Amino acid sequence: SDPALVERAAAAKAALGDRVFVLGHHYQRDEVIRFADVTGDSFKLAQQAAARPEAPYVVFCGVHFMAESADILTAPHQQVILPDLGAGCSMADMATFDQVEECWDVLEDAGVADDVVPVTYMNSSADIKGFVGRHGGVVCTSSNAKRALDWAYAKGKKVLFLPDQHLGRNTAVLEMGFSLDDCVVYSPHRREGGLSHAQLRDAKMILWRGHCSVHGRFTRESVDDVRARVPGVNVLVHPECRHEVVTAADQIGSTEYIIKTIEAAEPGSSWAVGTELNLVRRLANAHPDKNVMFLDKTVCYCSTMNRIDLPHLVWSLESLARGEVENVIRVDEETAHYARKALDQMLALP
Ligand code: 13P
Ligand code: SF4
Repeated sequence: SDPALVERAAAAKAALGDRVFVLGHHYQRDEVIRFADVTGDSFKLAQQAAARPEAPYVVFCGVHFMAESADILTAPHQQVILPDLGAGCSMADMATFDQVEECWDVLEDAGVADDVVPVTYMNSSADIKGFVGRHGGVVCTSSNAKRALDWAYAKGKKVLFLPDQHLGRNTAVLEMGFSLDDCVVYSPHRREGGLSHAQLRDAKMILWRGHCSVHGRFTRESVDDVRARVPGVNVLVHPECRHEVVTAADQIGSTEYIIKTIEAAEPGSSWAVGTELNLVRRLANAHPDKNVMFLDKTVCYCSTMNRIDLPHLVWSLESLARGEVENVIRVDEETAHYARKALDQMLALP
């Protein structure tokens, strides 16, 4: 990265001192992550968002739904800034508030809504988290999906999980002992979600038809191929990958789990990692004594995470240093109230 920009970012951050708190998701570029005060997966960043109540500005290097959650969890006088407003998430966009309301109407028509506890993945907009909070549900991330789904299933005996069908299915089948037949997929673009009332009555897990455009690209062939090329390789994947990828892998885990696993791995061991490429490259560079590689042969960054680059970070920090607050993410008070209920329920999970 451009040394002049690195210097400008460092100078602006130093000028702001304790007035700015920079959070960085593990999928961020190296040039950005080096300026983060705290790095983490989406769970850790949600926990840490409120860690510096004295900082008026929280610069969030990640994507829009994470910045919304940070706004909900920080104090009212704090402002959360997203350096590029175009940093969204294709998965979060696969469930809109209107579609979720329509889905709930379908569940009501089928006579099952009273039994359903909704669980939304962190990767969803604040208004969907608010919907879930209003209906007694919980937010989860990939690091606590089993605990959240166990909690919801114990409460209702039927769960609506959105928007990532893969995380929902993988958790239900591989960690909760459900069968594939216990899960049905609700398609927001089809009439009645493409499901009959009988299917909705029989299902334990109603999964939303959404997926991550990065993790959804790994295939069973990528696993077979790396096993053929690299003898003794360990395949380690994120649970947003498809079910057939996850069942072919050796280990499955959230971003933090993947990092800890590579840190603890034996020198000389080989790892094919199925997650976002900025993180895999960083792990490979940090562990030259281990053979860490990307699971697929094609390049696969999260394009929206990558929108936060050094020029955008410099712009945000220098604007703040001049007293100009740009790109504030603010969730309206009513939505925030109910979304906070669902987020607090997650943070309180046993
Ligand atoms: P985690 O940070 O919870 O592992 O989620 C992965 C992801 O896709 C974030 O966008
Ligand atoms: Fe969304 Fe997938 Fe990118 Fe995460 S990696 S921000 S889920 S598109």
